[in-house]
Amino acid sequence: MELKLKKCQDCTSLIEVIRDCECEIDEELMEECDCEGCECDECGRCEEMDFNCDISCCFTPMKDVIPNSTDGAVEKHIPNIEVNGEKARVYVNHVMEENHYIEVIIVMYDNEEIKHFFKPGETPEVIVPYKKEMKAYSLCNVHGLWVKE
Ligand SMILES: [Fe+2]
Repeated sequence: MELKLKKCQDCTSLIEVIRDCECEIDEELMEECDCEGCECDECGRCEEMDFNCDISCCFTPMKDVIPNSTDGAVEKHIPNIEVNGEKARVYVNHVMEENHYIEVIIVMYDNEEIKHFFKPGETPEVIVPYKKEMKAYSLCNVHGLWVKE
């Protein structure tokens, strides 16, 4: 299972998306239509003519958070998975300072996810069940989202 986060470009709020709409509104069609209850055929979420499928925050569409895409050091952000029998130790070699730390480690399985939140000063590691298809994500408050598949 993929982790999908969206971030507000204004207030930096982050949300996790359970199911997203991939459809795009046909702008021309929307202009022609003068009803007040225009809906996207696919997601049914678009109730206003000038409103599209994007999830908005601070009156702005939120942007997808792409893992491993910032200029942070790879080895300090990508989670390590150390397998020990039926368990796995997931940890990140990252500082845990007041203004720069790993906020959360998220482990995704096929039908389940485990989130462990951290505060500055704590050790960014978690012991979870080991499964072959697991994916581990870490979120740095400065350098964003990272994934080890
Ligand atoms: Fe960082």
